[in-house]
Amino acid sequence: MSAGSPSGAQAGAGAVVATDSGSPSGAGALHVKVTVIGAGLIGCAWAALFARAGHDVVLFDLDEAALDRVDGVVRTLLADLDALDAIERVSTSGDLAAAVREADYVQECVPEVASIKAEVFARIAEHAPADAILASSTSALMPSLFTAEVPGRERTLVAHPFNPPHLHTAVELVPAPWTSAEAIGRARAILESAGMEPIELREELDGFVVNRLQAAVLHEAFRLVASGAVSAQDVDNAVIGALAPRWSVLGVFGTIDLNAPEGIAQYVERYEELYQRLGAAQTETVDWQRVLDGGLLAQREQTWPRAELDAKRAWRDRQLVELARAKRARETG
Ligand SMILES: NC(=O)c1ccc[n+]([C@@H]2O[C@H](COP(=O)([O-])OP(=O)(O)OC[C@H]3O[C@@H](n4cnc5c(N)ncnc54)[C@H](O)[C@@H]3O)[C@@H](O)[C@H]2O)c1
Repeated sequence: MSAGSPSGAQAGAGAVVATDSGSPSGAGALHVKVTVIGAGLIGCAWAALFARAGHDVVLFDLDEAALDRVDGVVRTLLADLDALDAIERVSTSGDLAAAVREADYVQECVPEVASIKAEVFARIAEHAPADAILASSTSALMPSLFTAEVPGRERTLVAHPFNPPHLHTAVELVPAPWTSAEAIGRARAILESAGMEPIELREELDGFVVNRLQAAVLHEAFRLVASGAVSAQDVDNAVIGALAPRWSVLGVFGTIDLNAPEGIAQYVERYEELYQRLGAAQTETVDWQRVLDGGLLAQREQTWPRAELDAKRAWRDRQLVELARAKRARETG
């Protein structure tokens, strides 16, 4: 990794890296200059993804200690991606103006507070090229909450990743009312070059798409446990053993298109009545805290003692690395 230069200028500025090594999109791939603002959990993962794709990446953070951790953290993430050589394309800077001056694409990863994001976007827009794409990693803030006053606001959008981002291909692209189709198109091309598979929203929607789907499943999971009819582990077994394997290769609509001999129309004909009946009984939410206090927390404690959660996170990441490798092998083999 290049250390931040004394001036804080972007390492390798002016020299577009020409190698395609490790790039998910292979020969002839796009090469751009990416700046990541905020070198925490999500910022470091974005840096690994963009560097693997052959892009020059500079990370900026207000906190020097965060910048000091970048080398070790990004190396670990790149090892998961079998792309350790890409660390050469990653540099850090403690000077925001210098970090964004030549950027083609800026990915903001600062804390989830609209006022902080608004301030950071204003500073980025002041110093970045007028046509640079400015994307936010926000998990749930509407982009219009913090991009309204940004000069050139038509190139701002949300690009929301999933944790850990270097092991998930999904990214939600959410436009503000003023985001241009051209900006969405350019963001999509850059993200696809980094191996991502964008989910494109046509307008702002509370919860975007993934959290809305997850909300439906979580509410039913809490309802089931609250009813006492099934254990928390068996709810998880229902997902792990039945829903997740087919959803992971087919999605929701793909699954039902194959679950009736003549496809989705026949599926609707056969099963709509059942699902409408179930849906009509699934409108009330239960109090999650009461379910937790009423036994869910004790069940989880028995499954995974709280002291073992960090070890479990490391185990989860190893499982996801294996899944990502299997997916890459399936796509390239
Ligand atoms: N953690 C997740 O699971 C997850 C998933 C998807 C999206 N996100 C979103 O990504 C964003 C970042 O989350 P995170 O988990 O990486 O947080 P984090 O706390 O790990 O990192 C945030 C970083 O931003 C830095 N920072 C704070 N103010 C700054 C400023 N004004 N300018 C530059 N840097 C600044 C901090 O020093 C820190 O290093 C949030 O909007 C979050 O909602 C998080």
